[in-house]
Amino acid sequence: MDKSRKTVVEYLDKILADSEKAAPEDLLFSYKGILYPATLCSPETFQVLDSFEARSDDVILVAYPKNGNYCYTNWLDQVLNDLEITAAKYTEEEIKKRINITNELSVFPRLEFGDPEKFKRMKELPFRRIIITHLPPQVLPKSIFKSKAKILLLVRNLKDTAVSYFHFYNNMPTLPSFGSWDEYFTAFMHGKLCWGSYFDYLVDWNKHVADENVMAITYEELKENQTLGLKKTADFFGFSLSEEEIQTVAEKSSFKAMKEKSSKTPGAFGEIFFCKGGVSDWKNLFNEDQNQEMDKTFEELLARTKLGAKIKYEVYCKA
Ligand code: A3P
Repeated sequence: MDKSRKTVVEYLDKILADSEKAAPEDLLFSYKGILYPATLCSPETFQVLDSFEARSDDVILVAYPKNGNYCYTNWLDQVLNDLEITAAKYTEEEIKKRINITNELSVFPRLEFGDPEKFKRMKELPFRRIIITHLPPQVLPKSIFKSKAKILLLVRNLKDTAVSYFHFYNNMPTLPSFGSWDEYFTAFMHGKLCWGSYFDYLVDWNKHVADENVMAITYEELKENQTLGLKKTADFFGFSLSEEEIQTVAEKSSFKAMKEKSSKTPGAFGEIFFCKGGVSDWKNLFNEDQNQEMDKTFEELLARTKLGAKIKYEVYCKA
């Protein structure tokens, strides 16, 4: 396992151990009306979030939890590292140095995770950075929009997102478990989950989806044709990759390959991050009333929006 990945696994393992010791009521905190997991985020870090200085060449990935962040991040990481290392013709020694700098500066896997000092450390990173966040646009540091950095918005159909997040909530020690699917469904519909309401998230991001520095891509389109999705992403960020290179990366980041890789990694995370990796798992849990309730809310809030159309609700969320 490479060193940077090992550091992330060690970091996540520590979070798991801390969460297991915590009382359920101490697992979450609320900041400006939105819940966050207390072992990963802190109010102090949110208070200085605006001190984060975005750069115009930052690669920014935004997605609500369970929209396929992990796989995409892995892919972006791999492409960016490969591209920069090839372009700069780094020696083995320089590559090691680059990994060490990342580790020393402790860049946590999400913008909003970690200690308040991290933004100072991130400033020192000498290479192109990948910034991943679950935050809605109005909570993001203002410099992100000012810098005109490119933002990739990854979205997934609402029903599979709800189901994936339900399993995640119940398997992840950082989050309090729900007694039943019905209880969870009510919390999902009212935005009483970490990072708030997915409906609000989509409504808020819809205001930016036509911006020239923003591109939306869906989990489902990546699932249908990963190579094409990755090609669109590469074009958007200006990565120069041949068809063959895209194909190789697509193979390395397939559901099967990612699941296998994570199962070989020490730490309990593989099983938690990868359930079925499919489309339509929601049919196993939603009852008729719940289907109607979600369909109605989608119709009211999102059906006539650009992002709502992109999600193809009729195809992915109707029985
Ligand atoms: P399921 O819970 O439906 O299986 P995130 O990474 O944002 O936490 O999202 C996790 C979801 O993305 C999980 O969905 C996981 O299986 C799925 N996923 C991760 N990598 C994938 C891949 N390469 N192809 C398809 N789905 C993937």
